[in-house]
Amino acid sequence: MTTPSGAVPTSLHITAVSDPALLDLPWHQALEEWPDHLLAALPRGISRHIVRFVRLSGTVIAVKEINAALATREYHLLRMLRRLGLPAVEPVGVVSGRRDSDGEPLESALITRHLQFSLPYRALFSQALREDTATRLVDALAVLLVRLHLAGFYWGDVSLSNTLFRRDAGAFAAYLVDAETGDLHDQLSRGQREYDVELAGMNIAGELMDLQAGGHLDEQYDAVGIIEVITSRYTSLWAELTRPESFETGERWRVDARIRRLNELGFDVGELTLSTDITGTSVIIEPKVVDAGHHSRRLLRLTGLDVGENQARRLLNDLDTYTASTGQQGGDEELVAHEWLTRCFELVVRAVPRELAGKLEQAELYHEILEHRWYLSERRGHDVGLQEAVHSYVEGVLPLKPDESSVVGVDTEEMPVVADDGA
Ligand SMILES: Nc1ncnc2c1ncn2[C@@H]1O[C@H](COP(=O)(O)OP(=O)(O)O)[C@@H](O)[C@H]1O
Ligand SMILES: [Mg+2]
Repeated sequence: MTTPSGAVPTSLHITAVSDPALLDLPWHQALEEWPDHLLAALPRGISRHIVRFVRLSGTVIAVKEINAALATREYHLLRMLRRLGLPAVEPVGVVSGRRDSDGEPLESALITRHLQFSLPYRALFSQALREDTATRLVDALAVLLVRLHLAGFYWGDVSLSNTLFRRDAGAFAAYLVDAETGDLHDQLSRGQREYDVELAGMNIAGELMDLQAGGHLDEQYDAVGIIEVITSRYTSLWAELTRPESFETGERWRVDARIRRLNELGFDVGELTLSTDITGTSVIIEPKVVDAGHHSRRLLRLTGLDVGENQARRLLNDLDTYTASTGQQGGDEELVAHEWLTRCFELVVRAVPRELAGKLEQAELYHEILEHRWYLSERRGHDVGLQEAVHSYVEGVLPLKPDESSVVGVDTEEMPVVADDGA
């Protein structure tokens, strides 16, 4: 193969999961020089390396220039995280042995799939200056950190810049984007976990101060206070998920209660150990394996919809309401779910004109319409039907929203940054 400039890239090496179209990208050029028509103008967080979004076979990939050893390491770590079912960006491949047309070596590249509908935190702040956004982001990050730690993953550089956020029914769901400093162990020591949490607090406080300095977050917001927020959210969730609990032998219901509490937090119990003390009068239960996604798995099973945990919770509530209001409580759960899917969910999704479809993910849209319906009903003092709520939302609210599936229109890298220490 000869490149357009005539050089023969004999040593180009691509390790990739799939797409042969990767070969057509101009690997003989430094990423910064890639032509505009290949690039997608999506918002990006702050980074140490050069990162660009590239259109490829109808999808978008993220290309990061980084040295070969680190690229390979990060690629394998991301693959393991995905295999463990953890929320992280999906690795596509590593390109090494790159040379420019003069034969000079170029940095290797790590390729990941662009996470659709994801937003770097800086894009969230440039859209709406809501103080509680910071707290909600940190909540989502605490859940992510607990999940990674449960799986034995030590992150080593927890920050908002290394995380992507997707809307999740009024809250956020966090995804790991930068695994470069991470490490997978059988189990983490308390010290390792505490170090990750401490670093998270310091990094996030710094990132929020940057936003304040740039006028994107109210100066009154207590940026240092976020350290306490993340520490306490993390600690209480970790305790709830892992803490041994002891009770009298007769109180069997306590086992059930513990499982239910975990379910409510969005976790399933994969394994539970029960042991009795020597006298046999008390029992100790200890959750051993907990997996996130209790509600999203249930919704997936019932309807085939694959959505965020809070979105699933919301949709399941709506399904319950539908079941009750149509008098089908005793009926076959899957049949009712199917009916709800066509009569409610799909009805709403179909009501959105094509040109507005990229505004929000479908489940998020449904959630927003339920909120809108509630708001309309309250204002009018009587129940507003789903049809009417959809109509009013599509006419009056949706057109004003930014487009989140593709170009949000903000280049977050151009926002003023006080201390870019290369998060
Ligand atoms: N797969 C992806 N999907 C969406 N955004 C991404 C993806 N990969 C990278 N990014 C964006 O690029 C930024 C920098 O990537 P990162 O891996 O953190 O680079 P660095 O190692 O230089 O810090 C991230 O903050 C994120 O906004
Ligand atoms: Mg990073």
